[in-house]
Amino acid sequence: MRPRSCWDTIAGVTEIRLLTDEAQYRAHITLFRRAMHWGPPSDEQWAVTLPSYEPDRVLAAFDGDEMVGTTQSYGSSLVVPGGARVPHAAVSRVGVRADYTRRGVLTALMRAQLSSLPDPVATLRASEGRIYGRFGYGLAGRVRIVEVDTRRAVIRGDMTGRVRMLDQDTADKLLPELHEAIGLRRPGQISRWPGWWARQRDRKTEAENSVTVVHSGPDGDDDGFVTYKVKEEKEFKHRLSVEDFEWANDDAWRDLWIYLTRLDLVNHVENHVALDSPVSWLFEDPRVVYTKDVFDEIWLRLVDVPRMLSARTYGAAEAVVIEVQDALLPANSGCYRISPEGAERVEEQPDLTIPVDLLAAVYFGDVTFSQLAATKRITGTRLADADALFAVPEKPICGTFF
Ligand SMILES: CC(C)(COP(=O)(O)OP(=O)(O)OC[C@H]1O[C@@H](n2cnc3c(N)ncnc32)[C@H](O)[C@@H]1OP(=O)(O)O)[C@@H](O)C(=O)NCCC(=O)NCCS
Repeated sequence: MRPRSCWDTIAGVTEIRLLTDEAQYRAHITLFRRAMHWGPPSDEQWAVTLPSYEPDRVLAAFDGDEMVGTTQSYGSSLVVPGGARVPHAAVSRVGVRADYTRRGVLTALMRAQLSSLPDPVATLRASEGRIYGRFGYGLAGRVRIVEVDTRRAVIRGDMTGRVRMLDQDTADKLLPELHEAIGLRRPGQISRWPGWWARQRDRKTEAENSVTVVHSGPDGDDDGFVTYKVKEEKEFKHRLSVEDFEWANDDAWRDLWIYLTRLDLVNHVENHVALDSPVSWLFEDPRVVYTKDVFDEIWLRLVDVPRMLSARTYGAAEAVVIEVQDALLPANSGCYRISPEGAERVEEQPDLTIPVDLLAAVYFGDVTFSQLAATKRITGTRLADADALFAVPEKPICGTFF
């Protein structure tokens, strides 16, 4: 058994510092990569990675002069139910040196990060599901991985627009603009920062056979794109994996699926879709779409609960008073009256009490209060009204990996 007093002593001397220069950033990425069991970045990789380091967003834990843990965030915006975009921190590169784990280093980093973020909300992707709930992050959005058997896949009719394949340089220039022009459709989607595109270009260079295809409608305007890579599984039989798929309208979505499933020598197409994606109904035989997995995508931290409750819209129902419990950021703890008109802080008896990580879980509508009641982690009454207020017509998806 680990001596508890030893963790406390070491956690007590850990100091969290804001990193400011390039040499520190390189040490930061090297430590993070080692925590993930990857080697240090080469000079070429580092040149591509450097722009992803944004001043005031890079933290490290130190024991004396030794860096022992890392975290950082990228500045972005996040779509909330109702369509508003709020400033958002995309948290990433969380790692603790293997000889310093389970001594409270991550806890110290998370506390420092959450109390210093300029944004009212943060999201992250978790390497393991047990890490972040204790810091108030909730599982707020899941994705479905589907595989389409293209040998039996028939989509009736032809494309309404056309697709064109881009060379790498053109794709690098066009995609950031096109992504912004297409816009963010669903709650959970985020805007992409310049460093994200730089890293993506690097990933595509590393990947074999990465291809980008752009869709344009009958008016000639670009309104969708897909980036994918193809791997040979057996002789002349390939598997296509979609890396990035964005569209502005149903025609672009359907045409890009037609393109992907009619490619010669490709037997399987794999893609990440929203839980409620209608992709099965696109095909004459819906069974050609096979769900391989469902996993957690968006871990959401409501950093400024009053602001985040006011940022989204609500459905039609009687008002409900919700008590939020947030041990890490106690300023969020308190009662909020939620009605179709919005949210306000009140001093009233609550109908429901919920920890902040579960408030994050219901925020995008991926799960309801009634469903969570079975976990016994929320208490109270008026579940049906709370469900109706927080109901969101579409399931969340982000679609941007970071
Ligand atoms: C995950 C990681 C950052 C945790 O750092 P750490 O400094 O060991 O975390 P802490 O000591 O602050 O742990 C806080 C609590 O979370 C628990 N915890 C932390 N990581 C955990 C994990 N991977 N699995 C289960 N529990 C974990 C600890 O046991 C501790 O619980 P306790 O207070 O009840 O004892 C570190 O193990 C690591 O770098 N892992 C490899 C890289 C990685 O997965 N990074 C995350 C990328 S999203």
